[in-house]
Amino acid sequence: MDRSKLDGLMRPKSIAIVGASTDPTKIGYTVVKNIIEGGYEGKIYPINPKATELLGLKVYPTLMDVPDDIDAAVITVPAKLVISVVEDAGKKGVKGLIIITSGFAESGNRKLEQEVVAKAQEYGVRILGPNIVGTLSNAEKLNASFAPTLPLPGKGALISQSGALLISLDMATFTRKVGFEKLISIGNMSDIDFADLVEWLDEDESVSSISLYIEGFKDGRKFMDVAKKAKKPVIALKAGVSAHGAVAAASHTGSLAGAAKVYGAAFQQAGVVQATDLNNLFDLSLTLSLQPPMYGDNLVIITNGGGVGVLATDAAERFGLPLKFVPKDVQEELKKHMPEFGSAKNPVDLTGMAGYDWYYDTVKFVIAHAWTEGLVILYCETAMTDPMEIAKGIIVALDEANVHGKPVTISFVGGEKSEKAMQWLVEQNIPSFSAPDLAVHAISALREYARMKEIVSESDHQTIPVDKEQALRIIKLAREDGRDSLTEVEAKQVFAAYGLPTTTTLLAKSEDEAVKLAKEIGFPIVMKIVSPDILHKSDAGGVKVNIKDVTSCREAFKTIMANAKEYKADANIHGIAIQEMAPWGTEVILGSVNDATFGPTMMFGLGGIFVEILKDVTFRVAPVSKNSALRMIGEIRGAPILAGVRGEEPRDREMLAETISRYAQMIVDLQDDVSESDANPVLVYAEGKGLKVVDARIILKKK
Ligand code: COA
Repeated sequence: MDRSKLDGLMRPKSIAIVGASTDPTKIGYTVVKNIIEGGYEGKIYPINPKATELLGLKVYPTLMDVPDDIDAAVITVPAKLVISVVEDAGKKGVKGLIIITSGFAESGNRKLEQEVVAKAQEYGVRILGPNIVGTLSNAEKLNASFAPTLPLPGKGALISQSGALLISLDMATFTRKVGFEKLISIGNMSDIDFADLVEWLDEDESVSSISLYIEGFKDGRKFMDVAKKAKKPVIALKAGVSAHGAVAAASHTGSLAGAAKVYGAAFQQAGVVQATDLNNLFDLSLTLSLQPPMYGDNLVIITNGGGVGVLATDAAERFGLPLKFVPKDVQEELKKHMPEFGSAKNPVDLTGMAGYDWYYDTVKFVIAHAWTEGLVILYCETAMTDPMEIAKGIIVALDEANVHGKPVTISFVGGEKSEKAMQWLVEQNIPSFSAPDLAVHAISALREYARMKEIVSESDHQTIPVDKEQALRIIKLAREDGRDSLTEVEAKQVFAAYGLPTTTTLLAKSEDEAVKLAKEIGFPIVMKIVSPDILHKSDAGGVKVNIKDVTSCREAFKTIMANAKEYKADANIHGIAIQEMAPWGTEVILGSVNDATFGPTMMFGLGGIFVEILKDVTFRVAPVSKNSALRMIGEIRGAPILAGVRGEEPRDREMLAETISRYAQMIVDLQDDVSESDANPVLVYAEGKGLKVVDARIILKKK
């Protein structure tokens, strides 16, 4: 990325406001006023053909009339006038435009937006927006927006796709006492998108974490690539996760692949910490901008109250960091700093008598001990102790211990004095929260961040020998036949070309051929209708299992054909699939969707009721390495079933992982053709015995 243009836009030495107005009710007036009041130290050039002076500044008729160079221009003229302003900006050599104006793609006016972008590209000018509030930076003392004021200063950046939300969060920084260095409204993302800004902010020294409020990406892969490389924590709150699920889907996987699942998978793969709601977004932005990642699971909780200790312990389990007892030598040392009735195990309960000294001694010892990998300090306000004194004891202890790379979060539960003490603690760079579970949630995010970054450093790209040409040939034949789905026999051939073990399945066009093929495969067999017009074969009476001899085979042939004709009289019937009857195994489902934002995406879960009712499935944006596939197998709720429970032998997870990885390769290679697919069920056998894909479905993209 050429940083110079974004540097000009985000850190301008001079800024123009095109559409600056002398009318105090107009946005063009507010922006100029905000820039002045924010304390911006660069040059300000209001542009308006009708005015000569505004808020003490000389007004120029057009950008071209300004005698100096201009780095950035805020545009506040109506939509239809924007293109001519962009032309002027291009000629003037402006680096970036902050287009506040609405009335583009968001209201159906895509063409106008495209024209504006094309014009900007002609001159190499970058665009933030349109349809935005603007951009705010404490470091630059620049409020180039119509939000009332610069936010409370902090160390994080927040990029928001919703302008109104950005303004309200700007105000909330003061009431919540959580500051931000930058607030950026991104609007329609006609040019500059989340990925561009994350990449730029990652190198910007004034911020140490990057938070995003996202409604949707245009190019999910581009974002993932940038987020994976980011050195700073990226935190995302994704809105609009419910509507997508309602979209009709032709495959099982399609119906399960809602935005929440696919975005969730993409964030995890890209090392992006997910916020659960707006409050959590604030908490995580604060925490990840102040504290280091947590590189192990050894969390210690220090408290002066049993109640908050238990609440924190519960939260630790809920957020994936279950507490362990601290080692015996730590316990022995800690006992010196607490009464007999305290507990040195974990949580370390100093009891209600704990004042400055006990907190100081314990914190200093615990944070420095090699076993400790993260620390949560809790305090319940009591009449015996002063919150500010405790806070000071903690900070002195942490300073003296001088330990780096171990995160600390705090919760003081109490009244105004506790609030004040926590504000002071935040000023000392220790994230502090009003409830114990919030402090634990925050530190668990630091743990999650470290875990994800470790995984992200592994590559998902691998070379698997496959027969892509064969798969494409089968797809081509189906297309020539005028179809946009493959039959089961064809789908299995495609799977086989990618080395997926499928049950032997041959197509019989007549009763005699059915008998011949059944003998070749060997009884017992399964018989299934093969018709592009009958996707739900069982519903149509098109499946017969456990056929043991020739007579039953002939009978089944007749029955299936009759049922199919009754189900759909004009169905195009290719014949009947004669299939090896696979022995029983644990049922799992593999599937894919070609997600509009992230492209080929893989699903895995347990089959049968687990997928039908419990929806116990997990997703990954493809490709998926074998290691990632093993993690998928381990992260579903039903994982113990595959690991072997109640004396059952463990299932062949190695082979399953290999199969998931191959499947993922298949959907990447065939992404121009395959829109959705399922292998369902896949029967997984005991360790070393492999698996079999019993049924297969591939839906093609409509061309
Ligand atoms: N160069 C400079 N100034 C120009 C100009 C040009 N080529 N053409 C017009 N102007 C001036 C106008 O004369 C006017 O100034 P004045 O008050 O001194 O006459 C000023 O630009 C603004 O134009 P006006 O026609 O009065 O528009 P407006 O202020 O009513 O609305 C927008 C302009 C951009 C605010 C409006 O179109 C809009 O998009 N509003 C929504 C913005 C929004 O909410 N964005 C965020 C969404 S989250």
